[in-house]
Amino acid sequence: SLELLQNLPAEIGMGGNLLYLYQGFWCPQFQQHFKAQETDIILASIPKSGTTWLKALIYTIVNRSRYSLEKSPLLTSGPHGVVPFLEFDISSENHFQEQDRLPNPRIFGTHSPYPALPCSLKDSGAKIVYVCRNPVDMFISYWKFSVNIPKEEEKHLSLEDAFDKFCQGLHGYGPFWDHLLGYWKASLERPDKVLFLKYEDMKKNAVLYNRKLASFVGLPFSMDEEKRGLIEEISRLCSVESMKSYEATRTCTGPLGIPASAFIRKGEVGDSLNHLTPSMVSRVENLIREKLQDSGLSFFLSS
Ligand code: A3P
Repeated sequence: SLELLQNLPAEIGMGGNLLYLYQGFWCPQFQQHFKAQETDIILASIPKSGTTWLKALIYTIVNRSRYSLEKSPLLTSGPHGVVPFLEFDISSENHFQEQDRLPNPRIFGTHSPYPALPCSLKDSGAKIVYVCRNPVDMFISYWKFSVNIPKEEEKHLSLEDAFDKFCQGLHGYGPFWDHLLGYWKASLERPDKVLFLKYEDMKKNAVLYNRKLASFVGLPFSMDEEKRGLIEEISRLCSVESMKSYEATRTCTGPLGIPASAFIRKGEVGDSLNHLTPSMVSRVENLIREKLQDSGLSFFLSS
């Protein structure tokens, strides 16, 4: 049975004004009909954690022999144009048939919590890359983004109220701590299937993480590619500064008709500290300590 919350403001509803309580998570949409293939690559995240960046990186890494970097469809269609979301972009029967014809390996994004992933995906050889981000930056990123969500313009919460709901776990795909823990535990149990990444680590050392990503999806960089500096080039192509200049960022729309430009803002670590009071940050620090204790997973919010 599904519990339903209706008429939600944009800061909570995540692109709609409904949230369903599904397997303990507040989900605006979910996808159970997807038929995974053994070679699929799934990019999972809670919104505003670096999904757009991860899509750009994996798409470029996987397709590096098919397209030269300067001719990549990424530049004209954008990360959300070349990597569809399971929940938003392929809901209908037609879409499923189209996806069956995509080149191998197929790449999809999802915001689904781990327990709610389609069974065919969990049971197949498909690889999952999960990216997460420190929760306060993720919250502020969503707060800034929510003005771009269609149909919800009139109903806006104050920053304080949205933050309070966030800390209660009442936000799209939340609670965030359970979202993180689901993939974290899966990555410990099945490290060959689930790669767990943090946005902050990737920002510190993009080259190292590009190497990790390529190896994880079974397409490691060759010595020749290393020597040619291809990994550095991919890092540059997919950097926030470069992505801002893509034709696609200016002209395309992303999921739910939201302008592609809304998905690329500052891309910095620690921006939340410009917006939240020290007591708000310490509330999240306490939550993290309580919810993630003994998991081996941690975040340092103020560094
Ligand atoms: P900010 O709002 O803090 O700038 P998602 O893609 O999951 O919706 O997350 C969006 C966040 O990722 C935004 O954060 C956005 O600026 C940032 N982002 C988008 N592209 C990026 C890139 N190429 N490198 C780093 N961060 C990026």
